[in-house]
Amino acid sequence: MKPILSLLLVSLPVTLLAQFGPRTPEQDSLMARTQRKTQADHRAMMTQLNIKELRPGPSGNPKAPNAANADESKASPYTTLPDPLVLKNGKKVKSAKEWWAKRRPEIVADFDSEVYGRMPANVPGVTWTVVSTKDTVNGGYPIRLKKLVGRVDNSMYPAINVNIALTLATPANATGPVPVMMEFGFQFPAGFRMPQPPAGTPPPPPNWEQQLLKKGWGYAVLVPTSFQADNGAGLTEGVIGLVNKGERRKPDDWGTLRAWAWGASRALDYFETDKAVDAKQVGIEGLSRYGKAAVVTMAYEPRFAIGFIGSSGEGGVKLHRRLYGEQVENVASSAEYHWMAGNFIKYAGPLTPNDLPVDSHELVSLCAPRPVFISSGSPDVEGRWLDAKGMFLGGLYAGPVYELLGKKGLGTTEYPAQEDLVGSGEIAYRQHSGGHTTGPNWPSFLVYADRYIKAK
Ligand code: GCU
Repeated sequence: MKPILSLLLVSLPVTLLAQFGPRTPEQDSLMARTQRKTQADHRAMMTQLNIKELRPGPSGNPKAPNAANADESKASPYTTLPDPLVLKNGKKVKSAKEWWAKRRPEIVADFDSEVYGRMPANVPGVTWTVVSTKDTVNGGYPIRLKKLVGRVDNSMYPAINVNIALTLATPANATGPVPVMMEFGFQFPAGFRMPQPPAGTPPPPPNWEQQLLKKGWGYAVLVPTSFQADNGAGLTEGVIGLVNKGERRKPDDWGTLRAWAWGASRALDYFETDKAVDAKQVGIEGLSRYGKAAVVTMAYEPRFAIGFIGSSGEGGVKLHRRLYGEQVENVASSAEYHWMAGNFIKYAGPLTPNDLPVDSHELVSLCAPRPVFISSGSPDVEGRWLDAKGMFLGGLYAGPVYELLGKKGLGTTEYPAQEDLVGSGEIAYRQHSGGHTTGPNWPSFLVYADRYIKAK
């Protein structure tokens, strides 16, 4: 197997890796090397933080003796959450002006230093090139398909090359700029086949791309692992490694999620120059680790008009303080710490999630007043690791900030039944009946998005 293919395998979630069957010895050795390098980087960060030991996270296997909690009656050991509308000096935020000038910057500073890390001031610029343009069709809809590459200026450290991979499809018959939904896309190695449904299964409904084209919108796919690898070994490479000139991160340097969000902003820079795109009406969508990246993008980039946040779980919209499913301790481990600032590791020992100065409802509040749709699958199909209710609560407690800004939050405190859309306000929530995918929620998302995004 080619090394590039093996590298892709290293960055795929375990659930998808299973699709590949047995691995070759070369793949195994590359994975082992990546893991060793990752563990060394994780240990080096612990040394910088002066931490000797971390609490281990629970297991994602429900049958394991140390299985993650899935009992709602034990899920809320915390008694308070940080209040997004109380300043650090204890004073209540009473106006939108105070939110923007005082409280929001406080929350951003905490997420920067303790959770996702600070984006460096000197990230180099990106030059976009259209590699190819093709007139083709998708599900019968004529499209103009552009493949793009964004080259990051590496004159500060030529040993590291960083290129951003992006594709954009717009309806070929559009007479003006169109709204676009951009997805953080998993890149599957050549030859990869998604499992096929059994023979006789009725044809699938139009996929998300075709649903968008039907409305006269376009779609785009950004490949996050093209510019920042999905592992700790990659932290001295990619855009994070480039800015650090191949050296390790400091504890408040940006993690991979923040870097992926930076890439989304650069894609939006390109859209602002492309006459086929209405850059004021571009949304961001992602699933799981890319759902986390999607909400971080919305929080940090005000130019994104709408967010569709799929099964983002711990490190995404789910409350860090919830004792249910995946925990802070899991994300602080060598398998996932790279998503976050090094400082986040502290909250898996000696500190606890209760010591975090912010929680995830405040990440959602940073998206205000823009619309955010929180999506989850069925706990029975998707599993309880993602904590569907924890994501609902992350949305719920962001409500007061939306209201202060003259908008509406979820509009209910009641946890909805499966397939019921909570969507009367700017924060929406829906749990579909399928597994680990945003697929079945696209039609509901688009009904809700119609209130905000209009094809001309
Ligand atoms: C793991 C991880 C989750 C993540 C998921 C995914 O399950 O623990 O935090 O969301 O992978 O990205 O598929």
